[in-house]
Amino acid sequence: MSQRKVLDSISQLERPRIVQLRPNLFACCFQLMKLLPARFMLDRAEDRGELGAGNLICETTSGTFGLALAKLGAIRGYRVKLISDPAVDPYLAARLKSLGADVEIVAKPAGAHGFQAARLNRLREVLDTNPGAYWPQQYDNPDNPLSYSLVAENLAELVGQVDCLVGSVGSGGSMSGTARFLRDVFPALHVSGVDTHGSVLFGQPDGPRTLRGLGNSIIPDNLDHSQFDDVHWVTAVEALTAMHKLHIQHGLFMGPTSGASILVADWMARTSPDKIVVAMLADEGHRYFQTAYNDTWLASLGGATEAQPTNPITISSPLEPSDRWSRYRWGRREKDHYQISEQRIAS
Ligand SMILES: Cc1ncc(COP(=O)(O)O)c(C=O)c1O
Repeated sequence: MSQRKVLDSISQLERPRIVQLRPNLFACCFQLMKLLPARFMLDRAEDRGELGAGNLICETTSGTFGLALAKLGAIRGYRVKLISDPAVDPYLAARLKSLGADVEIVAKPAGAHGFQAARLNRLREVLDTNPGAYWPQQYDNPDNPLSYSLVAENLAELVGQVDCLVGSVGSGGSMSGTARFLRDVFPALHVSGVDTHGSVLFGQPDGPRTLRGLGNSIIPDNLDHSQFDDVHWVTAVEALTAMHKLHIQHGLFMGPTSGASILVADWMARTSPDKIVVAMLADEGHRYFQTAYNDTWLASLGGATEAQPTNPITISSPLEPSDRWSRYRWGRREKDHYQISEQRIAS
């Protein structure tokens, strides 16, 4: 009998499914996008001898990257410690624990720098007391964007022509990496990043944010500003309305950041009918059953029942105040153009 090569489960699950929604609109759907960079970072760390068999992987995260690390740790026999804060989603925490991860919640914020600094302080203590422990650092590890060469290759092969790439930005790894590699094949590619109000990533002042998974209150090294032609800031209600429409109209049960991405991609596809648009949809909806797919929670946001805008307003500076979907022509500028500084947190 011929021997068939069987791919391991992660290398199958990390690949996106490409779904055509309209003649010029494609969705690049991930079950859990972070599996790809997490697997690649661990592979590279193993190759470099930074991560040995059975060692400890430690990261500060309460989101999808932690879930990806927990899955990989369980399959590959690494111990995983995730340092989070009291805002952790209790259902996700239970899932992480069921995968064998140790989830530690820091009790108090570190003064003015808040919980993010408290988590980092605790992480450094864990690294200091566990020789051989590995910290993946998704915000700054260049292997995060590098891993997306696989997505660019998939898109070039399966979609054929890509004119516009749209996706939400958190660490910056997925959009910066996919855009960079896709431009090797399609040099005229237009790239739209999707952020949310109150995120500092593209020059807005830090503020409270309802939409999670995209946006940031620090500037990660993995965000390459020079890849982006356009930036869109989307509110939680606008993103969630688009997320529900995606489920109802196309049967795609995805998370809130996918709503933000498809809102912008759909507008691009409508307003540029001769261009092929691809939307990156980062994760599925199951994690959000108690929130984004829960009517009571949605009602608590206010505005969820009102008609949502079908077009963005174009603003003339990232600092122009706006409380609705807005768009700015970024023009592939470096981050320094807007004096966006490295907002690192002192340990
Ligand atoms: C659900 C979800 N969507 C989108 C993103 C943004 O991806 P990236 O970190 O590659 O910018 C993240 C980041 O954590 C995420 O968790």
